[in-house]
This record gives sequence, C-alpha cells and structure tokens, in this order.
Amino acid sequence: MTVDPYRAIAPLYDRVLSPLLRTIRRDIATYIGYRQFRSVIDLCCGTGEQLRLLVGQERTLCGIDNSLAMLAQAKQRGPESIEYHLLDAEQTTFSTNTFDCAIISFALHEKHPAAARAVYENAWRLVRPGGAIVLADFSQVPAGLKGFVYGHLAIPLVERLAGRDHYRHYRRWMENGALESFIGGQGSGADVISRPFGRCCLCCAVDVTAAGLSLNNSLVLLNRALADQRITRKEGSDGR
Ligand SMILES: C[S@@+](CC[C@H](N)C(=O)[O-])C[C@H]1O[C@@H](n2cnc3c(N)ncnc32)[C@H](O)[C@@H]1O
Repeated sequence: MTVDPYRAIAPLYDRVLSPLLRTIRRDIATYIGYRQFRSVIDLCCGTGEQLRLLVGQERTLCGIDNSLAMLAQAKQRGPESIEYHLLDAEQTTFSTNTFDCAIISFALHEKHPAAARAVYENAWRLVRPGGAIVLADFSQVPAGLKGFVYGHLAIPLVERLAGRDHYRHYRRWMENGALESFIGGQGSGADVISRPFGRCCLCCAVDVTAAGLSLNNSLVLLNRALADQRITRKEGSDGR
C-alpha cells in the first residue's frame, strides 16, 4: 500500500499556508474573473482553497488530487457545488477540451520532471482552445535582499521540512531553471498574474491555442510581459 505523503499535514495545511498564499490565490481569482472563464479544473487541488475563492458566477468547478487526506479536507469545507475526484493528475479520464481553464499551483516543483510535464500536458489536453492554464510555482531567485531571504533561506527551509524526496525534487526544479524554464520549454504565451515573496514565486497564465503545444516562444513572451510589468498587483503590496 502506498503512503499518502500529505496525510500528516492535511489537517494543518490551510491554517499554516493560507495566510502566505492569500495574495496569489486572490490574483488568480481576479484573473479568472477578468477572463470570464466559466469552467475551471484545479489539478492537484489539495484542500481546495483556490476553488473556494472561485465559487459563484455560475462557474463549474472541479478539483482533482491523489491524496485522500487533502481531498477529505476539501470536501469537509465544501461547498457541495465543487466537484472533487480522487485522481492522478498525470492521467485523468475527463474528455479533451472540457474546461476553460486549468490551474496547477505549487504542485510541479515537488515532482520528477517527467511527472511535472505529464501533468502540464494533461492540462493542455483538458483546456479548450482559447482557454488558459494558470501556473503558480517557484521562480528563479532574483538578486537583492528579498530574493536572498525568501529564495535562499525561507523557501528552501520550508521545502526541506516537507521531506527528503520533496526537497530533492525542489532542488532539481530550481537547478533546472524553475518555472520560467518550465514554461520556456512548453508553453506558447504567458500573462504574468502575480509575483509574491520578493518575486521568488511566479504565477502566470499560458494561453491554449488551437495550434496545440508549442515549445518555442513562450519564454520570450514571458520576459516581455515581465518587462512590461503586466502584473495585477505590485510586488510587496501584501506586506511581504
Ligand atoms: C503542495 S500541494 C499544493 C496544493 C494546492 N494546489 C495549493 O495550491 O495549495 C501539492 C498537491 O498535489 C497533489 N498531487 C501530487 N501529485 C499528484 C498527482 N499525480 N495527481 C493528483 N494530485 C497530486 C498532492 O496530493 C497535494 O495535494
């Protein structure tokens, strides 16, 4: 029998992490509202906190996770209008082009690169052309004091506390160039939604085009978006 790595932390997850992730979750909700997306799937949804922020406006909301303990927390908090499924995000059985938007937040850095790619490609399959994939995860550490404190001290410490395998994957994620590099290798365009923790996290949306998975120009677009400051909230506006 496989052990659920989130079993111990699940009851505490929201209490410990919610205050830290509030800004990014609100920015995602703002973006999804702005794009008027009506059907959203959260891949690796955890306790469902992001989905709860999206309730209303006749939206269909669906969360999948492979941790029974995390899903138990999600279901307990409701509301019943959010559908939850115990499923592997690398291979869900939903039909192609079912959703306007897929969210993958803080789930890629803890995976083997091939598994992270499989989740992302699955998201690509599930979202209709014209929709978007919202990705939030650790980014390359910027220069400066905030970058040092968050990127070289606080975040690595939290990741180390999450366990040896988790930390190993996180290290590899950072060494491989973090989210910028992941998108650069796989997306086709990116809007920057949020950059909390002294810019050590990046949340962006990759547009899903009819052309399918394009590997070429997204990092250029991402860098351009960063240079243009197309962000919904200025860094540090949440006091972090
Ligand atoms: C760090 S938590 C992030 C949860 C949530 N997305 C958030 O922003 O708080 C990672 C989640 O990914 C889930 N997960 C990891 N691998 C998965 C997989 N292959 N399929 C479904 N869920 C997975 C874990 O069970 C856990 O709930």
